[in-house]
Amino acid sequence: MSCVLEAQDLTRHYNVSRGLFKPTALVRALNGVSFSLQAGKTLAVVGESGCGKSTLARALTLIEEPSSGSLQIAGREVAGASNDLRKQLRRDVQMVFQNPYASLNPRQKIGDQLAEPLLINTGLDRGERRERVQAMMQQVGLRPEHYQRYPHMFSGGQRQRIALARAMMLQPKVLVADEPTSALDVSIQAQVLNLFMDLQEQFATGYVFISHNLAVVRHVADDVLVMYLGRPVEMGPAAALYDRPLHPYTRALLSATPAIHPDPDKPRVKISGELPNPLDPPSGCAFHKRCPHADERCRGERPELRLIDTRQVACHHVERIAG
Ligand SMILES: Nc1ncnc2c1ncn2[C@@H]1O[C@H](COP(=O)(O)OP(=O)(O)O)[C@@H](O)[C@H]1O
Ligand SMILES: [Mg+2]
Repeated sequence: MSCVLEAQDLTRHYNVSRGLFKPTALVRALNGVSFSLQAGKTLAVVGESGCGKSTLARALTLIEEPSSGSLQIAGREVAGASNDLRKQLRRDVQMVFQNPYASLNPRQKIGDQLAEPLLINTGLDRGERRERVQAMMQQVGLRPEHYQRYPHMFSGGQRQRIALARAMMLQPKVLVADEPTSALDVSIQAQVLNLFMDLQEQFATGYVFISHNLAVVRHVADDVLVMYLGRPVEMGPAAALYDRPLHPYTRALLSATPAIHPDPDKPRVKISGELPNPLDPPSGCAFHKRCPHADERCRGERPELRLIDTRQVACHHVERIAG
């Protein structure tokens, strides 16, 4: 097994204006995230809107520079990389967005769009490119005659298949998918998820799969990273995390997502209150204002990630809460 992606203490801060004559404020959108990802495995990143998921995605795909921290793609450090290396690293990490229109050109035929990465990055001739494109189209469930069509002639689900095909054309080491099924009909979501899994199996790509919904990533994740206000609060193997979530926030997220077979023995924990203002994060544990277990210590002292069994958890009271 080879490590295709390693993030260490990644941060990304934004300066935002609060109005004329006021000093700018700092948003710590991403505030110290570390993980490693093996080839062929999926790390799911979950958390409510605004917790920094897309910021993480932009840092991992080299769309934006992190403010600090280290990022290695297949063992090569991104910070300080030469332009040539950076170009190569960009090719190794591809992205699929929530809205596939964002990555498709409305005025270019699908076949030509899929061939473009091959044209730019390989020495394949026209016939060979066409062959590769048609093989990939078949793999994602498109028919040969779709080659000549434009993006608007497809359904949302088909467009996401095309976006995935395009991202996979150069067989990247890592695919970052930011809410790739959130805009699709529920009936289509499972099909598209299965397609992601089929392609992963074939190419042994490492996936970073982002969703606000823990239920969506349940069957695709090997590991799960739960984020709250820019920080990891719990991370570990998916099976253990779904079976016995440790952090109060993970527990709340899980019980807030409707299960297919609700367990009557597990009381539903309600997640109350709103996400705090990122410009003015709470003292101590960022979750304390919404946490039913919070006490004086949580209000004053920020919990660091600790290893508990197979998991890392940032909570002072895990032992008391999770029993
Ligand atoms: N370019 C930006 N400038 C200023 N603030 C930003 C920028 N991008 C994101 N943010 C802020 O960073 C936080 C995390 O945003 P984001 O990564 O989009 O979260 P998510 O994808 O989990 O919804 C939010 O508070 C958001 O307002
Ligand atoms: Mg987002």
